[in-house]
Amino acid sequence: MRIGLILALAYFAASALANAALAGSAPAHPWDDPMLPPDRRAVLAVAAMTPAEKIGLVHGGLGAPWGGAPKPAGAVGSAGFVPGVPRLGIPPLQETDAELGVGDPGDIRPGDTATAMPSNLALGSTFDPALAVEQGRAVGAEARAKGFDVLLGGTANIIRDPRGGRDFEYVSEDPLLTGTLAGAAVAGAQGNRIISTVKHFVLNDQETDRVVLDARIERAAMRESDLFAFELAIERGRPGSVMCAYNQVDGAYACENDWLLNRVLKTDWHYPGYVMSDWGAVHSTVASALAGLDQESGDQLDTQDFFAVPLAEAVARGEVPAARLDDMVRRILRSVFAAGIYDDPPRPGAFDPAPAAAVAQRIAEAGSVLLKNDGVLPLPPTLPRIAVIGAHADRGVLAGGGSSQVVPTGGIASSEPAPDGFPATLTFDPSSPLDAIRRHAPGAEVGYADGHDVTAAARLAAGADVAIVFADKWMTETADAPDLALPGGQDGLIAAVARANPRTVVVLETGGPVLMPWLARVRGVLEAWYPGQRGGAAVASILFAQANPSGHLPVTWPAGEAQLPHPTLQGDPNGAPRGPVGRGGRYGRIYAADYSEGAAVGYKWFATRHQAPLFPFGFGLSYTSFGLRDLSAGMKDGRLTVGLTVRNAGGRAGAAVPQAYVERPGDPGFPIRLGGFERVELAPGEERRVTFGVDPRLLARFDEAGHVWRIAPGRVRVTAGFDAVHRGLAAETDVSAASLAP
Ligand code: BGC
Repeated sequence: MRIGLILALAYFAASALANAALAGSAPAHPWDDPMLPPDRRAVLAVAAMTPAEKIGLVHGGLGAPWGGAPKPAGAVGSAGFVPGVPRLGIPPLQETDAELGVGDPGDIRPGDTATAMPSNLALGSTFDPALAVEQGRAVGAEARAKGFDVLLGGTANIIRDPRGGRDFEYVSEDPLLTGTLAGAAVAGAQGNRIISTVKHFVLNDQETDRVVLDARIERAAMRESDLFAFELAIERGRPGSVMCAYNQVDGAYACENDWLLNRVLKTDWHYPGYVMSDWGAVHSTVASALAGLDQESGDQLDTQDFFAVPLAEAVARGEVPAARLDDMVRRILRSVFAAGIYDDPPRPGAFDPAPAAAVAQRIAEAGSVLLKNDGVLPLPPTLPRIAVIGAHADRGVLAGGGSSQVVPTGGIASSEPAPDGFPATLTFDPSSPLDAIRRHAPGAEVGYADGHDVTAAARLAAGADVAIVFADKWMTETADAPDLALPGGQDGLIAAVARANPRTVVVLETGGPVLMPWLARVRGVLEAWYPGQRGGAAVASILFAQANPSGHLPVTWPAGEAQLPHPTLQGDPNGAPRGPVGRGGRYGRIYAADYSEGAAVGYKWFATRHQAPLFPFGFGLSYTSFGLRDLSAGMKDGRLTVGLTVRNAGGRAGAAVPQAYVERPGDPGFPIRLGGFERVELAPGEERRVTFGVDPRLLARFDEAGHVWRIAPGRVRVTAGFDAVHRGLAAETDVSAASLAP
């Protein structure tokens, strides 16, 4: 027996003796009192635990069969499972992926389905925190009804590159929008007495080389961009857990990064919950435990069980203080108590999927972005002949790939092998756009061509009053797109249809911006992202004006790759493992990715470079028109407050998303920043005065040496409009010098 293990066993035995008295003393546990603060309850529970019980809580495996072993006893069946401590009433942690709905990877729960929500890009496009709360609430309720108590949801990474494989899981390129909506979704989910997670902390902004990538970026820039999105999401959502990412940040893995975990998250932000690792993201025992990792997840995907026996040995040897192990457990239990799981653990029960499906449709409707409309939309329901073409529109709508994938209510509508031999299955959610279009135009002759035969599609289009081409691009976790092009000859298909029918509309189902060489030749473009299981219905209701489009781009739409900070993606797509490598695996050499653009992400990059995007951040058309006037900017109760009046100047009810941007004319290095936004529903002719309080950190620069946010005294310029480029209103005011705690 190894000496370390002997020491570990001795440590276990000594502490077990100390706890024995406690265990048998009282019928009810001292931490049972729900009136005690969660921190106190956690301290009391930790004091009663044996070292073995503590070690049991700080690492978990897959909640699924693996390597010939069956699903762990007691696991519902999901991405992760951490056994509880029945002796002390501590329930197991049943962890499920949940950011776009409750996952069922590999059909672990045979035949189980869940509401497939639209991608987070669609949620981001709504600019609507209230809808994000509803999304979280619906997914959390469904997860709880399946017996889960920990959601691996709440992505708060900002989108740095429009080719990112997980961009569809992310909310936006902007920290304020991302943090606000991610935090709202987490808060909505946790209202179900469940823990939710904010992930992937931090800079998991590309999939290429993600497990060997070292994201290099100045700390101050990180504080003002990627970290700020997490900071806001955590402040607003109060997630029970934070998941650290696969990649390294400035030379240290995110899950063993003392600066990120101990300094920023736990000290500067006073985060009281626990840090769980991503699946296969742990590389050490002592370094990780000391750096602030509290729980190893999916440990079969790590090269060894770092937080099982090796951690017990490290504690026994004094390399990890016993107090640190207690702190890890206390943080986990604190979240269990705070979420209400201890007092009311989930029990599998009935769930009515109808309200959740309605939420999915509302997000798809509010999050689809009308990019172009030369008067062709909305379609009159009386059109005699409609051609519907491409992208399996007869069956369903595309879903993104990876751990966020959901088996939708009603089952997968269609599936096929992923392109280019990629080892995955590409799936379509139900709700066929073709069927929905037929419902909206019951008298029309609606023909369908799958688009593989371009001549046949063009022929169908030529004989129709309008041609609607669906085009898609599959994106997935573990791989980025090499470029911004639509794949599979779809550009040629669209061009041919547009030549055959001058009234051509394109509906995109993509995980981010794509190039549109045919843009000038089509009359309308609607970006539906991956719109979830009610996507077809939502798209049709927009095309026929049952819903007025109101989505606004949460990402800048470049005119080409040359406009991006990295015209070619950093890293070698074939040079490194795609995902966790598992037992016996090897991680390759570390690849340093230089995020030299710093905080100038998305529209900020375009502004500093004076580049005109194809469509700016924040952009989106409506079937009505909106006006803005009377922008005001002034200090109120120490906070910059912006006011403006928004008016529906058209003939239909609709939602406007006025946006206010801030600049500091005295600081040439200060990038333009989104300072506030609001989604406003307005009846025809109605107008409303809207006011935003601007978060003071949005007026500040982070001073890394001084370890403080600093607001320089002087002018603030506020501009307002309906996107990041067309900002017709301007106002200025002065702010005084201030320093804000980090
Ligand atoms: C992903 C996480 C996910 C986890 C569990 C990882 O590959 O990066 O987002 O929660 O798997 O499925």
